[in-house]
Amino acid sequence: MRVSFTLLLLLLHLFLLLITVPGVNSQASENNPFIWQVVVQYDIARSNHSQKYLPDTSFKLYSQDFQTVNLHDDLYGHNQRLLLDFGDGCPQTTIEDIQTLNGNTATSPSMMSQPSIALVERGGRCNLWSDKINHTQAISKIYNLNIGAVLLYDNMIYNGSSSNGSSSASAEGLVQLNTNNGSYPTWSTHSLEPPSRNIHSMTDNDISNSNGSQNSDSVFMAIYFGSNHYGRVLKDMVHKYTSTPSNSMHQYYIQLTFFFAETTFTTTENQPNGSGGENGNGNNDNSDMWTVFTGERGYLAYLIAAGAALIL
Ligand SMILES: *[C@@H]1O[C@H](CO)[C@@H](O)[C@H](O)[C@H]1NC(C)=O
Ligand SMILES: *[C@@H]1O[C@H](CO)[C@@H](O)[C@H](O)[C@H]1NC(C)=O
Ligand SMILES: *[C@@H]1O[C@H](CO)[C@@H](O)[C@H](O)[C@H]1NC(C)=O
Ligand SMILES: *[C@@H]1O[C@H](CO)[C@@H](O)[C@H](O)[C@H]1NC(C)=O
Ligand SMILES: *[C@@H]1O[C@H](CO)[C@@H](O)[C@H](O)[C@H]1NC(C)=O
Ligand SMILES: *[C@@H]1O[C@H](CO)[C@@H](O)[C@H](O)[C@H]1NC(C)=O
Ligand SMILES: *[C@@H]1O[C@H](CO)[C@@H](O)[C@H](O)[C@H]1NC(C)=O
Repeated sequence: MRVSFTLLLLLLHLFLLLITVPGVNSQASENNPFIWQVVVQYDIARSNHSQKYLPDTSFKLYSQDFQTVNLHDDLYGHNQRLLLDFGDGCPQTTIEDIQTLNGNTATSPSMMSQPSIALVERGGRCNLWSDKINHTQAISKIYNLNIGAVLLYDNMIYNGSSSNGSSSASAEGLVQLNTNNGSYPTWSTHSLEPPSRNIHSMTDNDISNSNGSQNSDSVFMAIYFGSNHYGRVLKDMVHKYTSTPSNSMHQYYIQLTFFFAETTFTTTENQPNGSGGENGNGNNDNSDMWTVFTGERGYLAYLIAAGAALIL
């Protein structure tokens, strides 16, 4: 009797939660995050740590192909990272290859002042995702690259879909919104078509596949998946922004941050400005981002509420 009463309370709480907490009924989720993408500029004459956002380059990107392979600790915010192109990330990849792909910025003090995310192409000279992840982790450790996440992008382009990036808000497209725009896209279907676009049906995914492979227990970084189109867009951006003349006092990197629920914010040079985020000293102060994450529409509020419901 008591047990069922508790259960009833629990269900009631979950129900109330669903209808009252904004952000729950949203497109972005743990399994299908959106990405905040922005170019950051470092003025290396001033300091190798002070960064400045270029607000014109700040966007939220949505795609049904964005899938979480391994969430690790990313739910709790503090996951803004600078992008490094790792090619196919296979064991043959050397630090020299990575330097070449990134305009020799991989070990620059500015790049190393902040955690990074490796862009890795699916397939190539090796197949299993754990090979790529293991090698990425190994290189990061040897050269102190501080890689906290991997964005694996598809080497396949699917027919009959716009996964190549025609920008319609259809199920398969890549949708780009200003960060203060709350009209997020909604997908027309729940499942990815064809089903081979779903990470859980990819046989080279030995991190978290439908056969219950749980290598994720030994993977201490976040892993995400994206479309071939988005991977190529990012590669082009890395190439463009790191080919500044070597005597330039400015360096430019692409920063990616994954969000698991809808939120809006404005981007100023110094910080993303979320619900009530006030912190003037924009010297790469991550607490501003934390505010965006924990703002009233943020995921944390939902987690805390869910936790409270469970305790009852
Ligand atoms: C930033 O790093 C570069 C390369 O190591 C160095 O030459 C420069 O003096 C540093 N700038 C500052 C302000 O420390
Ligand atoms: C990757 O590293 C983990 C932990 O060291 C190990 O258990 C696993 O077998 C490795 N996977 C591959 C494909 O080498
Ligand atoms: C897409 O179509 C082309 C030509 O019809 C074919 O060669 C290719 O394998 C197809 N790609 C996929 C992912 O099915
Ligand atoms: C992307 O797909 C659309 C429709 O499927 C096609 O018309 C367009 O040519 C493709 N673009 C590229 C760059 O492949
Ligand atoms: C938000 O994005 C949608 C879809 O791209 C667009 O139609 C709308 O005009 C945007 N709203 C604002 C305020 O920019
Ligand atoms: C799951 O296991 C079956 C049988 O061993 C295999 O044929 C299939 O490719 C596996 N699927 C994945 C996603 O690894
Ligand atoms: C942040 O946003 C708030 C409310 O929209 C605004 O009052 C404040 O001036 C903004 N701060 C900065 C630094 O842009």
